[in-house]
Amino acid sequence: MRKPLVAGNWKMFKLRAEAISLVKGIQDGLKGIDTGKVEVLVCPPYPWLEAVGSALRGSPILLGAQNAHEAKEGAFTGEVAVPMLKDAGCSYVIIGHSERRQHFGERGDRLHRKVRAVLEYGLKVIYCIGETLEEREAGRTEAVLERQIDEVLATDVDAARLVVAYEPVWAIGTGRTATTDQAQQAHVFIRGKLGGIFGLQVAQGLRIQYGGSVKPANAAGLLGQKDIDGALVGGACLAAGDFLAIIAAAVATAGGA
Ligand code: 13P
Repeated sequence: MRKPLVAGNWKMFKLRAEAISLVKGIQDGLKGIDTGKVEVLVCPPYPWLEAVGSALRGSPILLGAQNAHEAKEGAFTGEVAVPMLKDAGCSYVIIGHSERRQHFGERGDRLHRKVRAVLEYGLKVIYCIGETLEEREAGRTEAVLERQIDEVLATDVDAARLVVAYEPVWAIGTGRTATTDQAQQAHVFIRGKLGGIFGLQVAQGLRIQYGGSVKPANAAGLLGQKDIDGALVGGACLAAGDFLAIIAAAVATAGGA
């Protein structure tokens, strides 16, 4: 049974006091939710990792980062290394988000190195993939997903510490969500590809999150799909009530349809 992972990607939002107030709100609301059935992760901006981590101490909520450099350390002004994130209390790092691909030119070989660095230095990775609207309309969704998987994932990746996030670029921050069928279809394709790399049994145990305008109103439909194992949430994770409603939907649908 795959335990759903509901992760909040805060992107570049929230000042310090707002960040603390948000996690406290999530923590309070979680008291009424069966957290044994779901893994909850928050990924705040770098400067608030320590403060948010301290606020979360003793709670089941995990801490993650939105990006990392691939080197262990070095003269890379402005960058942050995985061992530093580990030291700050992170257990996950998001790699390959479409905003990193689009605005910071991160592609295949760089992402290949980043995924390996996250694993080598002891953390878990959420590797994001997804097609643009143009690619979907040209009927290239599966070819794009296949390329993004093949460029980065291979048998040297520790599948036990890998989560894949399917985030169609056209659904991110647009309010336009993939239909439950579109999402489920993409997840089945991704799981099949992962099966080709890691073997079918391992692929059955791998979590594939959906991301892209996940909101309280559509969460149950998406999370109820058999191959959707949680959500990577952007906008709706910035309000405790919305994020909690998505977590509750994951708990209610845990185990799939
Ligand atoms: P939205 O939920 O705002 O569409 O963002 C999704 C996302 O990019 C999560 O990583």
